[in-house]
Amino acid sequence: QSGIITIDPGFKNTGSTKSAITFLDGEKGILRYRGYSIEELAEKSSFLEVSYLLIYGELPTTEELQQFESDITNHTLVHEDVKKILEGFPSTAHPMGVLSSLVCAQTAFYPASLDPNRAANEVDLSIIRLIAKMPTFAAWSYKNQIGHPVNYPDNNLNYTANFLKMMFATPAEEYDVDPVVAAALDKLLILHADHEQNCSTSTVRVVGSSHASMYASISAGINALWGPLHGGANQAVIEMLENIKKDGGDTKKWMAKAKDKDDPFRLMGFGHRVYKNFDPRAKIIKKAADDVLEKLGVNDPVLDIAKGLEEEALKDQYFVDRKLYPNVDFYSGIIYRALGIPTDMFTVMFAMGRLPGWIAQWKEMRENKEPIGRPRQVYTGANERAYVELAKR
Ligand code: SDX
Repeated sequence: QSGIITIDPGFKNTGSTKSAITFLDGEKGILRYRGYSIEELAEKSSFLEVSYLLIYGELPTTEELQQFESDITNHTLVHEDVKKILEGFPSTAHPMGVLSSLVCAQTAFYPASLDPNRAANEVDLSIIRLIAKMPTFAAWSYKNQIGHPVNYPDNNLNYTANFLKMMFATPAEEYDVDPVVAAALDKLLILHADHEQNCSTSTVRVVGSSHASMYASISAGINALWGPLHGGANQAVIEMLENIKKDGGDTKKWMAKAKDKDDPFRLMGFGHRVYKNFDPRAKIIKKAADDVLEKLGVNDPVLDIAKGLEEEALKDQYFVDRKLYPNVDFYSGIIYRALGIPTDMFTVMFAMGRLPGWIAQWKEMRENKEPIGRPRQVYTGANERAYVELAKR
């Protein structure tokens, strides 16, 4: 092997790129999109405005935002052949698997090579198409799971209201979107919109570095997000809290399991590779959980269990020594549940929120003409040896 190869499992001490999109300070618990704090954006912005900011680098003017929103509204319909793909999935298919397939299939419907150097407007059109169609794909993946007919988008509704109506409307009765639910969802999407070089974003960048299409790269990101150590944690947190509830709320037993090296169980929604302080998103979501449940008149016992678990963990030496705090996934599932989102769809909501971040990172990587991602290894296998005929083995 020529040269020195440094092995860094999980890339804990490796920077993969330079990026101008998102800034994290793990010690201080700071998160900024293009320099704007997550606290201000969650309070004052909208998901589509934040999407524009992440992808194009600046807050849009009134005209730019109106154009962006109307472009998205005019691309919410998907090709009718998407239904044929959907029909191929059994109702047992997890919505994340359906979503990544429908996103990747867009390469078939819009085959142009998405080379930013070829035609900027082609990339911009693909960005509009992907942001516009994601809620349709997400809602349809849920309808496929419950065996209900799909709903077409309603262009009279805003982004999150349109999604909720496609998710929950049925031909059997009128469905009116609750503005409290739509607003809470918009805030959650903002909080998930980007997070520098996390597992799924790094996947989008590496797949995109082979000049695979934006759709194929984002589809790969959706699959990386699915894992319970990453975006799948929001679903795993609720399943954990439900188990603790069944146990009569015995958080001490579960804390002991989480610390037991022989037990593979980990406290889901706790810990983070970068944040060694509170995840700023978890703070905002915890407060939003109280507000939204109160507004909706929902009393969910697992919220109290979650708060009890957090209180205990913050005093527990094992967690304190390892700087394990609640992360973005710890409280988000409690809000999704209060909004009526089924557990299997929690990670789909994460993917919908993370979409503009993945797009921004793919675009930056391609515009910076970054080389194909191809790390080396230290070989630990057999030395050279001669082939042995089958009869002699
Ligand atoms: C997301 O990267 C991002 O930015 C991701 C994300 C984003 O927005 O994209 O923020 C979204 O994925 C949030 C994380 C969601 N995952 C979970 O909540 C799953 C539970 N958390 C852990 O699996 C873990 O904390 C990770 C995966 C989040 C981080 O793992 P690391 O950085 O590899 O840390 P580690 O496994 O090396 O843990 C360090 C120590 C170990 O103990 P020791 O070997 O030192 O004795 O802390 C322990 C771990 O065993 N530990 C935990 C724990 N997390 C870490 N012990 C119990 N419960 C936990 N949750």
